[in-house]
Amino acid sequence: MMVALKKSFKILFQPPVSEKIAVQVASPPILILCPIGTDAKLYLPNLYKNQYFGYMVPSQVKHVVPADRANRIQEMFNAVAPRYDFLNGLLSAGCDKYWRKIAVDELEPVANRVFLDVATGTADIALGLAMRDASRIVGIDFSTRMLQLGKNKVSARNMQSSIQLFPGMAENLPLKSNIFDGAISAFGVRNFSNLNHGIREIHRILKPRGKIVILEFSFPQNGFLQWLYRLYFGKILPVMGRWISGHKNAYSYLPDSVEGFPKGEAFSAILKENGFDSVDFKELTFGIATIYTGFKHV
Ligand SMILES: C[S@@+](CC[C@H](N)C(=O)[O-])C[C@H]1O[C@@H](n2cnc3c(N)ncnc32)[C@H](O)[C@@H]1O
Repeated sequence: MMVALKKSFKILFQPPVSEKIAVQVASPPILILCPIGTDAKLYLPNLYKNQYFGYMVPSQVKHVVPADRANRIQEMFNAVAPRYDFLNGLLSAGCDKYWRKIAVDELEPVANRVFLDVATGTADIALGLAMRDASRIVGIDFSTRMLQLGKNKVSARNMQSSIQLFPGMAENLPLKSNIFDGAISAFGVRNFSNLNHGIREIHRILKPRGKIVILEFSFPQNGFLQWLYRLYFGKILPVMGRWISGHKNAYSYLPDSVEGFPKGEAFSAILKENGFDSVDFKELTFGIATIYTGFKHV
């Protein structure tokens, strides 16, 4: 187990048991692990401060994800981060904002709820949730550059008391179980190195009957629209994306990753297999995006 872990994670820190730890003291001594290639320093202070964080001791690292794929995706999002928001708006003709708003509205705006935004990126979903009411939101992402931009947006809107953003991997959420009323991920799950592990982790951190909301790209059903979509997604978007972001693969990765990703009934089945019930989905904008919802089965 440890050999496998060492291949996939850096061991950052092994504090003595006597060290004062705000949340809980684990024994035997704690290992804090982060994916190779991440900025290790960013992990430590947050782990100590936050009430939502548990510790990733070896027995808790249930899912060892393929480090090479995770690193490649992480590196890609770090590279495109400065242009990410701009490109999102441009390449989706502003639809991304509308899709996120509908996804956010799936989580009931009841004050004092605790929500998790998985693969929060530059925190648009987290901000959307926080602007509505007095919910508390935790955002997790493994791209520290995306997160830094998210943190800047949160500070600019003075929302630091509602939103906390932390580095972390979806497949091994460094969070305690059964504490969130709802969890959401927008355009995140398609990138997970292990989809089932990521979904199972969301299931774990939700309270019983907690709600999952997934927003992801899909495919128009209509033949003509499909042709148009393939033309745009396959030919135009990669060229524009490469030109503006300066990253040679990021925007050809986008259509490739959408093409191979389960959609509609197939993705709903994955949610059910991983412990969700009352699973439903609705297509947006001719099926270009889909919102999936479900509840943690108890
Ligand atoms: C397309 S962006 C979406 C960001 C944001 N949710 C939004 O709506 O714009 C995908 C994000 O997922 C993050 N991500 C991908 N795989 C991840 C993983 N396994 N664990 C944590 N974050 C991940 C990337 O770093 C990136 O910020």
